[in-house]
Amino acid sequence: MQTILILNGPNLNLLGTREPETYGSATLADVEQLCHVTGERLGYAVECLQSNHEGILLDAIHAAGVRFRAGELIGIVMNPGAYTHTSIALHDAIKGTSVPLVEIHISNVHAREPFRHHSYVSPAATGIVVGFGVRGYALAIEGLVGTGRVAHGGGAPSN
Ligand code: DQA
Repeated sequence: MQTILILNGPNLNLLGTREPETYGSATLADVEQLCHVTGERLGYAVECLQSNHEGILLDAIHAAGVRFRAGELIGIVMNPGAYTHTSIALHDAIKGTSVPLVEIHISNVHAREPFRHHSYVSPAATGIVVGFGVRGYALAIEGLVGTGRVAHGGGAPSN
């Protein structure tokens, strides 16, 4: 069975108690459970990692790239948290490994402060899910699974 990696960046370990009016009441454990159920429903194993450290996230993307090339892993669903808006290193890691990655944000970052409107990750991402709450993780997994079946290059899916 091929694997999908779920990566959560800084402060997402605080889900459930962190600004619930913005991020809701689901905990990180709830999110990871949703990802397991969604991935397994679609026929994939799911592995989850959360880190508050940029280097650990970079190492995880590099390792996922190796597994992607070996055919063991189909890609990554990542909520990069605040590193979205700061990390050229994450951009370079995604580009450098060519691993398919769907970026997800729980909140609608474009309806929030201007410093959240720019993402270094988006130009390197296969797709983006923004503003659907934690349900976005399930949508991102479905999108990642779907991208294997359509051509890249901005064209709409044919079905
Ligand atoms: C977030 C949005 C980011 O701007 C913020 O720094 C987060 C969470 C989201 O899921 O909405 O940590 O990625």
